[in-house]
Amino acid sequence: MKKIVISTGGGDAPGLNAVIYSVVHSCYKRGWEVYGSRDGYAGFLDIDDLVRLYPREVEGIYSIGGTILGSTNKGNPFSCPVENLAGEVRVVDISDKILNNYKRMGFDCHIAIGGDGSLDIAHRFAEKGMPVIGVPKTIDNDLERTERTFGFDTAVSTATDALDKLHSTAKSHNRVMVVEVMGRDSGWIALYSGIAGGADVILLPEIPFDIDAVCNKILDNELHDKHYSIVVVAEGAVTMDGRRFNKGKGELGRDEMILGGVAEWVAEEIHRRTGKDTRSLVLGHLQRGGSPTTFDRLLALRFGAAAVRMVEQRKFDHMVALKDSDMVAIPIAEAIARRKKVDLASDKVTTARDIGICLGDSLPQEKE
Ligand code: F6P
Repeated sequence: MKKIVISTGGGDAPGLNAVIYSVVHSCYKRGWEVYGSRDGYAGFLDIDDLVRLYPREVEGIYSIGGTILGSTNKGNPFSCPVENLAGEVRVVDISDKILNNYKRMGFDCHIAIGGDGSLDIAHRFAEKGMPVIGVPKTIDNDLERTERTFGFDTAVSTATDALDKLHSTAKSHNRVMVVEVMGRDSGWIALYSGIAGGADVILLPEIPFDIDAVCNKILDNELHDKHYSIVVVAEGAVTMDGRRFNKGKGELGRDEMILGGVAEWVAEEIHRRTGKDTRSLVLGHLQRGGSPTTFDRLLALRFGAAAVRMVEQRKFDHMVALKDSDMVAIPIAEAIARRKKVDLASDKVTTARDIGICLGDSLPQEKE
């Protein structure tokens, strides 16, 4: 008999509930107990935030977006900001308290579902002696050593759907539509949805862009009697002279900048330089919502079941990963060592170029 605790951390992603469903059923079949910690680590601090999960609690949730446990991307337990009544903030380390409570509750393993931030925290707990297994979640698909994270396929599908819808209105008004998609410093969502959604231009963080190259593509469309264009820009895209776009620091306890603003800038520059009517839109959190696609659902269910098998094999401080269509265990440290970037030599990038999509760079032949 084992006692497992499961948590969901960081930004939500479609498929979280499917992992929870799979872990609960896989444990139930083995006669193990499963508990869910609400809002990341809150359940380790307050018994009221710890819920016992039986199959009836998770009935039908595999197809629902979000997480029944709640999630947070604020308040890293190793450097947790605490504000007093005077508004003064001090940073405290509450990891020992969490570890002691984990031991007192008699858990055998913590299954942490998260992206790079949450898995970094999980890895630090593993180093302190908490048996941990990671499950790779993020719509950004930027975790190393796994071919996919769950949530990505759904986000791409939502973005592609939006692009399909934008074509008709762009064409009706002879406009340039600039669409900002998520993904932080990796261009996976932009690249996949841009190719599938018939974009004329795709701007990735991996290729600093030349706004002149973007405008040339739009003017070239005009020459070929195509009077509208679709530009997909990743929120983390950066100009050739190093300009990045963000909305400043987020809420208290949030480590990273809130990205945003690049689509608006690109749209204004295109209008200024080409005279074309432009509109920009930010797809934002739509990409994180909704039911997981069949691909994500299946991947998440497989990740959950594989994580429970890893508990049995005592593969702690490891993360379940997708490799060559199979489930494998890899050290969490390797998954979080750096963010996975789009490989510019991959066939997807070559495909984009082959079918005439401008990637914002001036290729040698275009410079001549
Ligand atoms: O990491 C997932 C993600 O959706 C990023 O693509 C995006 O930059 C960020 O989270 C948004 O975070 P928040 O929901 O806190 O605004």
